[in-house]
Order: sequence, then C-alpha cells, then structure tokens
Amino acid sequence: MTIRSDDPPIDERRIGQLLEAARTAAAHAYVPYSRFPVGAALLTADGTVITGCNVENASYGLTVCAERVAIWTAAAAGHRAVRAIAVVAPKALGATPCGACRQVLNEFAPRDSDLLVVVEGADGPEPVVLSALLPRSFGPTDLERAEG
Ligand code: THU
Repeated sequence: MTIRSDDPPIDERRIGQLLEAARTAAAHAYVPYSRFPVGAALLTADGTVITGCNVENASYGLTVCAERVAIWTAAAAGHRAVRAIAVVAPKALGATPCGACRQVLNEFAPRDSDLLVVVEGADGPEPVVLSALLPRSFGPTDLERAEG
C-alpha cells in the first residue's frame, strides 16, 4: 500500500495518541527476567493503530521486542506499510529501537517516504526518521533490483 500525499499529517496530536498507546502497551509487557518493559504503537498506511509489548522467554534468546511484536501483529492483519511507530521504555526514556527491530521496521517502511520513529524522552517526544537510525539499509528494493 502506498502513502498518498493527501494522507493526514502525523501532527503533535497524533504523536501524542501513539505515545499514549505505546505507554498502555508497555503495561502488558511480559518481562520476568529483565524487568524492562517496552511498549510500541504503530500507525499503518490506512490509519490503523497497532500495539505491541516485549515478550520474554525462559530460554532468553527467544525474547521478542515490543516493536517486532507490533510489526508482526500488523503484518498478520494484512498491513504492509507503516507510517510511524512510537516507542516507550519507561525505565530508560529516550531508548531507541534495537538493530534487529530497525531492520524489521525497514521491511514495512513506506516506499515513497520515510518511517517516523518517535521515542518518549525525558522532556517529551523525540522524533527521528528510520533512515537516520538505519542508514544505507538493505531491504526489499535490493531484491527487486536483483530480479530485474
Ligand atoms: N527491548 C524491546 O522491547 N525493544 C527494544 O528496542 C530494545 C529491547 C526489550 C527486549 C527485552 O525484553 C528487554 O527490552 C531488555 O533488553
């Protein structure tokens, strides 16, 4: 799905809603090992908001971050483009998505615009674009080029 230029802007109000949804999701985090809850809320191309929280596992390595839970939930519901994601790590305000989540986010970034990442900082929302967090990324378009 493409992002159209007449799509509603991601304004302050919208960012506030996404952060609030991420905060609520963080309360559901399953974190018996790290005690480090994280919540994420993403905005899809059609305006749907989908949340996720981190879910840990006794085998540690199977832990999944909040961002990936949100992305995979969105993908499973049929969404293929994410305009923005808000992330709240209440115990480490300002923390940005890990490298693995950046790569997974890149898979569903809009083709013709950047994906907005907003983390909750100590002094309020901290917006940054995915291309700044993951420069010169490898993604679907590289494979499409190879096919051509
Ligand atoms: N975590 C996230 O959910 N998102 C991130 O971007 C970084 C880390 C989780 C994984 C684990 O449950 C806990 O935070 C500590 O690493």
